Amino acid sequence: MSIPNYCDVKYWNKRYREQSKTTFDWLEDFGSLKDYLLPLVSSESKVLIPGCGNSQLGELLYQKGTEKVFNVDFSESVIEIMSQAHRDKLRMKWEVMDVQSLSYPSEYFDLVLDKSTLDTLLCEVKPSAELALAQYFRVLRKGGKCLIVSFNEPETMLPLISQQTRTFTVTQTGSEAFPNYIYCLQKEAE
Ligand SMILES: C[S@@+](CC[C@H](N)C(=O)[O-])C[C@H]1O[C@@H](n2cnc3c(N)ncnc32)[C@H](O)[C@@H]1O
Repeated sequence: MSIPNYCDVKYWNKRYREQSKTTFDWLEDFGSLKDYLLPLVSSESKVLIPGCGNSQLGELLYQKGTEKVFNVDFSESVIEIMSQAHRDKLRMKWEVMDVQSLSYPSEYFDLVLDKSTLDTLLCEVKPSAELALAQYFRVLRKGGKCLIVSFNEPETMLPLISQQTRTFTVTQTGSEAFPNYIYCLQKEAE
């Protein structure tokens, strides 16, 4: 069986059309992340979820009172499906966008929450992951946090992260056999 091309939008559009009635969370879900996530947000926080897919993270954050959630994905299919499903949540946004060239102003967000989107970019070429992370830091306010949930080990992630900040923590989650990592990065003042 061949490995799908995770960097090909056609793969994701097809997958999301087939899953149009369901949700799916890669690696971790809101339940397993909430203790890390909720202390980082307030009701006024602006949160960016790059490569949101059909995860429930945005919706559950919204239900907990953080309503300014900006979901972006390069799959027009998933953005259409999710924006329809959540059309009642007026402060939550859904936009088709490539995470390597975000159209938001600099220093706009309080938190960027990447769950396995950088993993996808790292499947192909490291420069795309570097570009995406640089974009996350551009749109993050000074002192803001970027939470990356990833199966990639510190050996792979730390060289990438250290291009953006020296202020970060790493927490291992998941199982012994299939560990995940939560990288919590802070944008430094200068
Ligand atoms: C592994 S899935 C993770 C989905 C979701 N974040 C989750 O945790 O369940 C990767 C997601 O990134 C999106 N994606 C991949 N490359 C992208 C890019 N260059 N720009 C925007 N989205 C991208 C895919 O469409 C897919 O929804």
